[in-house]
Amino acid sequence: MIETAFVGAGNMASAIVRGMLNKGFCTAAKVACTSARDGTGETLAKNTGIAWFESLETMLKADSGIRTVVLAIKPQQFAQLPDSVAELTRGKLIISILAGMPVARLAARFPNAENIVRAMPNTPGQIGAGITAYASKLPLSAGRLADVEGILGSMGPVLTVEEGQLDAVTALSGSGPAYVFAFVEALRDGGIAEGLSPDVAFRLAMHTVLGSAMLLEKSGEDPAELRRKVTSPNGTTQAALEKMAALDLHGTIMAGVKAARVRSEELAKG
Ligand SMILES: NC(=O)c1ccc[n+]([C@@H]2O[C@H](COP(=O)([O-])OP(=O)(O)OC[C@H]3O[C@@H](n4cnc5c(N)ncnc54)[C@H](OP(=O)(O)O)[C@@H]3O)[C@@H](O)[C@H]2O)c1
Repeated sequence: MIETAFVGAGNMASAIVRGMLNKGFCTAAKVACTSARDGTGETLAKNTGIAWFESLETMLKADSGIRTVVLAIKPQQFAQLPDSVAELTRGKLIISILAGMPVARLAARFPNAENIVRAMPNTPGQIGAGITAYASKLPLSAGRLADVEGILGSMGPVLTVEEGQLDAVTALSGSGPAYVFAFVEALRDGGIAEGLSPDVAFRLAMHTVLGSAMLLEKSGEDPAELRRKVTSPNGTTQAALEKMAALDLHGTIMAGVKAARVRSEELAKG
């Protein structure tokens, strides 16, 4: 019996399905997907053993056991969903990962749903190393909480926030991977400017970020404390950090997060 149905079978849906199966949240027999025209649904089904349906309507009519519908299409594809979804999702839990799609707009499209969850994952979720924050329209029962956390938890840790905070979440963890990639680019280019080959500079930069993030997680210490530990008085790190502080690295990143939050709010207004 199918329990979880995916609308959309692209990068994120594939990552969630693979994570759910790998982590043993459920078996392939309990999952189905549908996509539009590019064959992503067939490919996901072939690779994972989940069921594939030609259309959303066929999928939702196929099995009355479907309890949860995961919406994993692009936000601009939302308007193409057929009107019949309103009736076909009666009594089901909707989990949407559409960036910037407010619960109120989801509720207007799925008026008969049991509950609606709006989630914000991030790109490392594609390899199970993401973090997802979510908000639900109504409080979740214990059983539904387990469903939501099992599905979203397949991409990495999960936490709850108020819906009003999801723009800030988008600005921090949603867009955040791009800030980290920009930092790696700058670190690499700094190394190249100081005489390293591009390959050596890239490997040093990437592993510095990777290792520092792992140390941060494993040590449980505050980043400021770890930063102080690698900064000997009058040493090389101090010279670099003083230069970066003079150019307001901290304020620059905070200003970037603010700009993303403002943009996220603008986009949600449509
Ligand atoms: N990528 C990220 O890290 C990330 C982070 C946070 C949030 N998100 C959100 O995740 C969502 C999905 O992103 P993605 O990168 O997985 O997109 P994607 O790879 O483009 O996948 C979109 C999927 O939706 C299918 N689709 C399109 N229109 C449809 C329709 N009317 N009915 C059924 N299926 C339809 C597509 O099918 P065809 O390919 O067959 O056309 C495809 O399988 C987006 O809303 C995005 O905002 C993504």
